[in-house]
Amino acid sequence: MAFEWKERYNLNIGEIDKQHKKLMEIGKRAYEIAIIDDEYDRYDEIMTILDELLEYTKYHFEYEENMLKQYKYEHVHAQEEEHEYYIYKINQVSSREDIDDNQRKIILEIIDFLSQWISSHIMLEDRKYAMFLKTIK
Ligand SMILES: [Fe+2]
Ligand SMILES: [Fe+2]
Repeated sequence: MAFEWKERYNLNIGEIDKQHKKLMEIGKRAYEIAIIDDEYDRYDEIMTILDELLEYTKYHFEYEENMLKQYKYEHVHAQEEEHEYYIYKINQVSSREDIDDNQRKIILEIIDFLSQWISSHIMLEDRKYAMFLKTIK
C-alpha cells in the first residue's frame, strides 16, 4: 500500500522520524481518497491534500538541509538535488490541466510514484546522513 510507515524507515533521530511519519500520513490520506471508487468527484479534495503534502515536504526538506549544513555534512548537495526533484514532481502534478479527464488513474499513478520515491529516499539518502550524524555525536 502507498505511504505505509514501516519500521525500517526509522533513522532513530526523533524529530526527523516524526516528520517522515507525518509525510507518510498526509500521503496516505491522499491515497485513501484516490482509491475510493464511487460516483463522486474527489478531484478538489485530493488536490487539497497534495497541496498540503507539497507544503509539508518543503518544510521537511528545508529542516533537513539546514540541519545537515549545521553539521557540515559533505553530501548535502546530493540531498538538495533529490529534494528539488521531488518538489518539482509534486508541482508538476498540481499544475496539470489534463488531470481531470483521466482522474483516478493519473492520481493513483502519481501517488504511487511519490510514495516509492519518498521511501527509497529515506532508506538510501537520509540513512546516509543518519549514519554520519551517529559518528560525530
Ligand atoms: Fe527526509
Ligand atoms: Fe532527505
